[in-house]
Amino acid sequence: MSNLAADAAAAAERKLVLLCYAMLSRLRSSLCRLNNSVRIFKTFQLRKIKTSPLILHGDYEYEPPKSKEDIVNVTYVDKDGNKKQVQGKVGDNLMYLAHRHEIEMEGACEASLACTTCHCYVQGEYLSKLPPPEEKEDDLLDLAPFLKDNSRLGCQIILNKELDGIEVHLPKATRNFYVDGHKPKPH
Ligand code: FES
Repeated sequence: MSNLAADAAAAAERKLVLLCYAMLSRLRSSLCRLNNSVRIFKTFQLRKIKTSPLILHGDYEYEPPKSKEDIVNVTYVDKDGNKKQVQGKVGDNLMYLAHRHEIEMEGACEASLACTTCHCYVQGEYLSKLPPPEEKEDDLLDLAPFLKDNSRLGCQIILNKELDGIEVHLPKATRNFYVDGHKPKPH
């Protein structure tokens, strides 16, 4: 092989090495980014960061049921024993539905699992139809006054067809954040 040809081959080899190096470094940074995203996702899952979709912030409960199959009847019994029957729908949050119908289920933390003011008692067989409480709900319930076996946090109950006819009772009192007894108004 002539000197010229040998030089050209060496230059081509160098180019190829550089190209491979560039590709590898790109691949490496993509993998790093992917790894980072996976790590963030895992942290998010591990910490069970609680986010509540906008749909759970009370507006949805003002929408009427779209069909008969959508209707879920709910009875609330207040601390004085007054009954109120309301028509909810699949997907409604039991606490926001109460707000819509001016039932005194407080909800000071807006369903972010940081209070117990939406405490209620789920009557009869409906308790077993609910998914078991998350650890955080359980921990909070331990702090709720007048705790019973059928205690749940109303803001964690999402209506489905199986819950049609559910009856919930409100406790005699809840633990309010406010020392002056002020009750935040639902919006
Ligand atoms: S509103 Fe605070 S936990 Fe339900």
